Order: sequence, then C-alpha cells, then structure tokens
Amino acid sequence: MTGAIADAYDRSADAWRRGPARLYAQLADALLDRSPGLVRDRVVLDAAAGTGAMGDAARKRGAARVVSTDLAPAMLSAPAVVADLVHLPFHDGAFDLALAGFVLGHLSKPEAGLRELRRVAAGVVASAFAEGWSHPAKRVVEQVLAERGYRPPAWYVAFKEGRERYVGDPARLISLARAAGYAEVRVEQCEVTVGAVTAGDLVAWRLGMAHHAPFLATLSPATRHTVRSEAEQQLADAPPVVVPVLGLIAT
Ligand SMILES: C[S@@+](CC[C@H](N)C(=O)[O-])C[C@H]1O[C@@H](n2cnc3c(N)ncnc32)[C@H](O)[C@@H]1O
Repeated sequence: MTGAIADAYDRSADAWRRGPARLYAQLADALLDRSPGLVRDRVVLDAAAGTGAMGDAARKRGAARVVSTDLAPAMLSAPAVVADLVHLPFHDGAFDLALAGFVLGHLSKPEAGLRELRRVAAGVVASAFAEGWSHPAKRVVEQVLAERGYRPPAWYVAFKEGRERYVGDPARLISLARAAGYAEVRVEQCEVTVGAVTAGDLVAWRLGMAHHAPFLATLSPATRHTVRSEAEQQLADAPPVVVPVLGLIAT
C-alpha cells in the first residue's frame, strides 16, 4: 500500500500545489500558533512534508533549520530528502522537534512511525483530522467524478475505512504516542475556519487530492473543464470549510 500511496501523491503534486496546499498551509499555521514556543530556534524535521506546509509554518515562527522528507519526490521542493517516515536516514537525536502533518493515517503502523520520529527527534507535533469530519465539497466532487467513471483507489478506501478514522480519535492518538515511548503526551483539538474560499478553491482543493488528481489527469481537457464547472456550480452556496484538527504534542 505504501508504494500506491507514494505513487498517487507523486502524480498529484502539481494539482496539490494548485489546490490542497493552501488549505494545509492554514491548518499548519493554526496548529503551530497553539504552541509557538515549540519551534523557535529549534532544528526541525518536517516528516512527510508534502509541499512543506508544516515546515513553512515552523520557519515563519523562528525555527533555526527545517529539513523536509517525504516518500513522494514530486511533492517536495529541493533541498529535501526522499524517505519513508518509518525508516529515516538520520542518526538518533538529530533534531529537536519532528513535525508530522496528516500522515499518521497513511502508515500501516502509526506507532512505528511515531517510534521512528522519537528516535530522531526529542519531541513531536503531529496532526490528524478528527473522526467524522466532512464538507459538501467532498461529496459533490466525488459524485461529479463518479459520473465520468471514477472509482476510489484501493489505498484510499483502506485509508478512509480504517487508519484515518483510527488516528482521528484523541484517546487513540494518546495511546499510540505512549506505545511509541513518549512520556509527556497531550492532544489538543482546534477548529480551523479556512479563510476566503470560493467555489473554485473548493473544487481545486478536492480535485488536487491524491485519490482524485491521477484520475482527473486521464480525462480530456474538455471533460476536465466540465467537471470543474459542474462542481463549482453545485458548490456556489457551500458553507465555510471548518476543519476539526487534532494536534498531538509529545516528548
Ligand atoms: C495529506 S499529505 C500531508 C502533507 C503535509 N505534511 C501537509 O501537512 O501539508 C500526506 C503526505 O504524506 C506522505 N506520505 C505518505 N506515506 C508516507 C510515508 N510512509 N513516509 C513518508 N511520507 C509519506 C505523502 O506523500 C504526502 O505528501
């Protein structure tokens, strides 16, 4: 499954930069705003960095240095390291702090990922979507794509039905961190209202997700255009995007 996930993100990287990156940047900012002192003057690992939302948020808050890693090379901007989060090419204690934004649900053993982050960094800030969260844009875009033959890929079905939900519960996140060996563990929940979102932004967000973008790329330019405008019409009066985010902070 890890290979399928990395491949999907790799093929979605450009669409991610045009869509989801903006939302994830706001989520990273909100998360680090709750613990600004954690990153100042620290040497920080942004693990599974994607296009760098967490690392950018850490730089803005005074991190001394940020190293980004991800399994999907196209998601990263140079300089960065292509690496699986559960096998990081760094020596023990190389970092003061590890950031892991919205990746635990992608790992077959999230506690193994946290254990590896604990090996290379003194502390961790990891995020996950609280279980059960949704927004009409998800359903609308999924439906418009399904009408063109889209079926969710197996890795995404497994992720939605299992691990994403698993890490979307504060008590389970706490036990995962304890199982990984962290002594001081807390989970904070915040609701982030994503600012200034048009129907076009909502559609770009959903179409840029790694379970959609590779399928969209197989459609003709004319069909892609129709998909976008149909979805935008249906989302003209959509409610604001309010995202319940869990932040795990552990040392
Ligand atoms: C939802 S995105 C989040 C990206 C970024 N952390 C953020 O907050 O914007 C998940 C990222 O995890 C990466 N990823 C998934 N499984 C991974 C693994 N086993 N090791 C490293 N990166 C992984 C994906 O390639 C993708 O870039």
